[in-house]
Amino acid sequence: MRKLTLMNKTGSNINYAAQCLREGKLVAFPTETVYGLGANALDPIAVARIFAAKKRPSFDPLIVHIASLDEIPRLLANPIDERVVKLAQAFWPGPLTIVHKKSDLIPDIVTSGGSTVGIRMPSHPLALELIETAGIPVAAPSANTFGQLSPTTAAHVAKQLQDVDYILDGGATQIGIESTVISLQNGFVEILRPGAITLQQISKIIPEVRMSGEYSSIKNLQSPGLLKSHYSPRKPVYLHNMFPGTVDDQTGIIAISQFSKVPASNHTIYLSEDGDLIQVAANLFSAMHHMEENPDVKQMFIEAVPEVSIGIAIMDRLRKAAFQYLPETS
Ligand code: TXA
Ligand code: MG
Repeated sequence: MRKLTLMNKTGSNINYAAQCLREGKLVAFPTETVYGLGANALDPIAVARIFAAKKRPSFDPLIVHIASLDEIPRLLANPIDERVVKLAQAFWPGPLTIVHKKSDLIPDIVTSGGSTVGIRMPSHPLALELIETAGIPVAAPSANTFGQLSPTTAAHVAKQLQDVDYILDGGATQIGIESTVISLQNGFVEILRPGAITLQQISKIIPEVRMSGEYSSIKNLQSPGLLKSHYSPRKPVYLHNMFPGTVDDQTGIIAISQFSKVPASNHTIYLSEDGDLIQVAANLFSAMHHMEENPDVKQMFIEAVPEVSIGIAIMDRLRKAAFQYLPETS
């Protein structure tokens, strides 16, 4: 009898996942935000496989995930901005990515040839254990096909990506939208991508922080998470008040809660019990995946949320999901 050496592709074997990473293979793993598609950040060939598996353009740099503050000195160039330590102490482990000038140890492919690298210490216990066991920094973008919906479960990853060696299953992620990206560059402290850690929270630690002035176009690319169209399901998405047609039986409705004043349809998902925006964020991508997968739904209609605290990050993702269906003037 032939010996069975193939592992099941999805599972909870951290030692195997860590071994895959050390061997230059790709491992999808849960973080507290979304699932990441990880590879050894110090191995350019392994990192190249991430770009191929995601069909990600090579100009979009990757975040390097660490499990210990001791990694910082070898990943960042000297002198290290003292605000890195302040931010790390305040928000790590957690959903904050810090962009800073990189050290020579980081291969250029990780940073798309740029001189800066984004680093983050995730708080998900499986992510921390995986990185620790592997003993290497792990480059990981969200584990979706480029431009499509971010994955908040192992099944979302399996649906989109074929070329993954192992999917470490940790159930649904808790926060549900990607980390806040903050850049410490050229004397400025800017939020490049809004996330669960808000401007207000950061300004208590670093008063000079500001939102990135302009959401860049592809020509003036600071951070492709800032592209106007991103995080999109493969079906039309309309924001509340911008819906051109009538709601029919083929329209999915994604509403904040059952108390929302939105039209009813056969396919309605409520994102929270009573409007709590943390719950809305946690369930948002999952609801869009659900509508994407439902063959009876041809288009979806999503209720806008108030742009306060995590609502800023939610509306950022919603506008990008709906971008190609927004009226020209908006
Ligand atoms: O929550 C998250 O951040 C998840 C989990 C897996 O950690 N990761 C994630 O990675 O969302 P990704 O690649 O999908 O999004 C990272 C964003 C991109 O918009 C990228 O352009 C930006 O961060 N980014 C990464 N490195 C950067 C750098 N050096 N300068 C500017 N932007 C950078
Ligand atoms: Mg992404």
